[in-house]
Amino acid sequence: MADAPTGKVTFVGAGPGAADLLTFRAARAIAEADIVIWAASLVQEEVLQHAREGAEILDSATMSLEDVMAVYERALAEGLRVARIHSGDPALWGGTQEQLDRCARIGIGTEVIPGVSAFSAVAALAQRELTIPEVAQSVVLTRLGGGKTPMPPGEEVREFAKHGTTMAIFLSAARSGQLVRELLEGGYPTGTPVVVAYQATWPEELIVRCTIETLEETVKEHKLWKHTLFLVGPALDAEGTRSHLYHPGHFHGYRKADPEARRALRSRGAST
Ligand SMILES: C[S@@+](CC[C@H](N)C(=O)[O-])C[C@H]1O[C@@H](n2cnc3c(N)ncnc32)[C@H](O)[C@@H]1O
Repeated sequence: MADAPTGKVTFVGAGPGAADLLTFRAARAIAEADIVIWAASLVQEEVLQHAREGAEILDSATMSLEDVMAVYERALAEGLRVARIHSGDPALWGGTQEQLDRCARIGIGTEVIPGVSAFSAVAALAQRELTIPEVAQSVVLTRLGGGKTPMPPGEEVREFAKHGTTMAIFLSAARSGQLVRELLEGGYPTGTPVVVAYQATWPEELIVRCTIETLEETVKEHKLWKHTLFLVGPALDAEGTRSHLYHPGHFHGYRKADPEARRALRSRGAST
């Protein structure tokens, strides 16, 4: 979106915590800001090293939506740039839409800068691809219902579990018993691999592999109830078949197929 004539709010995705997982664009937005709003519990303090000297730094943990909007209104009136830092990617459980909608109503310009979401950071730490050919080709990003935010009908973990694909489950460590029940009710076998990640990319990071059968005891053993993400599904320990994209029999705009490899690929029923 083009810069507003006066004032601007940039919603900055700051990644899962480690300051070096900021994008260049995110670092630049923080450096250009007159006001930086951040949450100490969600993003490491090092992120603030990008802020310019004299920038006003506010902790969002102490602020209501109304308090935040008062800052945006001041930014509009005084022509200030605000960097509002959100953890991970602002598009996921960030409370950003309610701010964007209100910004549009008061008439201040906005920009959203994407960030590394916790699910991709955890996949990287576990060194697992979440989509393995012929094993899992979809990733469900979800959370358990029953907390402060009710789930819309049909979005219960047990419903998504019926697909048997990879799931990244946020905001659910405090109810690990319910999580296990719903995963099994949906039809995952008890031996399905799980990666449990606490405070990924922080100094206190903990990454543990277990199965659905041992998920609840793993969570309880490590006393995890917040800042924890679960990756669940057969892709987490499967090899699968090789991908077609890099097969010598597959062609595309930048590479010719090897005829023999192509025949072999086609005889396996591939429509390359
Ligand atoms: C309010 S949501 C924000 C998600 C964020 N927008 C994202 O894209 O990752 C917070 C939840 O994200 C997950 N999460 C965020 N950062 C994490 C981290 N560093 N390690 C493990 N889980 C994390 C946890 O499930 C946590 O309860």
